[in-house]
Amino acid sequence: MSLRTVILLISCLLGTNLAMDCREVPGKLKQIDAGLGQVFGVNENDRVYTLYGGSWTQLPGALKHVTVGPSGVWGVNKNNQIYKLVGGGWVQVGGSMKQVDAGGHQFVVGVNMTNNVYCMGRYASVRYRGPGSPAPWNMLPGHLMYYSCGPNGCWGVNSAQDIYMRKWVTPAACEDNTDWQLISGKLAMIEVGTDGSVYGVDAVGDVYRRDGITAANPAGIDWIYESPCTKSKHVSYDAGHLWVITKDNRILDCVV
Ligand SMILES: *[C@@H]1O[C@H](CO)[C@@H](O)[C@H](O)[C@H]1NC(C)=O
Repeated sequence: MSLRTVILLISCLLGTNLAMDCREVPGKLKQIDAGLGQVFGVNENDRVYTLYGGSWTQLPGALKHVTVGPSGVWGVNKNNQIYKLVGGGWVQVGGSMKQVDAGGHQFVVGVNMTNNVYCMGRYASVRYRGPGSPAPWNMLPGHLMYYSCGPNGCWGVNSAQDIYMRKWVTPAACEDNTDWQLISGKLAMIEVGTDGSVYGVDAVGDVYRRDGITAANPAGIDWIYESPCTKSKHVSYDAGHLWVITKDNRILDCVV
């Protein structure tokens, strides 16, 4: 445990302002995703909600994971069927994933039940409007259990909680010719924001932010411990707000 971690733990106990400035949002969710100013989430019963005018509005359908980003709103249900929100309703997309992410520069990525990694390029993902539209999933090398993209590349974690990233991912192909870069540290989940910020949660429930990410250095420099003063299981960052789902499904809106 670093000195900074010790100081933050003490500051949480004392309630001083070294910790993140978080407020609890009414409701309970098991997963949340924020992007382009919008916030979507799902609860323990797979009900889907979006934050609208300060309160949760339920959408139709049932999903275990939802994502919002430049290629729209996408999600997967408990049978790993994939859906995209089109005209206010869910249309099914070919394939089978346990987690998808719409945060890339107009492309969508996902991982399937055997941790194979896929992406769908800009033309297909943005134009997808229901069965009949082409839905070409391209398989990437390697295995991940969680994968998320942003403007400066894609980040994922594997089943050993090792962290990998890909730079120079282009939206049209959603792939690149480089390989995975292993990043130091261990995380259970990782999310890239619309602006390229990278946040993750480790197995213990501590939240980390990747520091030093620039267009020239998409891998960043170091992990910085962020303290919401509670153990977390999921985070998503957008426009100055870090949305945190605690281990007991409470929702925190932290200004960072
Ligand atoms: C995951 O993807 C791989 C590679 O395409 C495929 O062989 C496997 O059947 C898929 N698993 C599931 C559960 O769909």
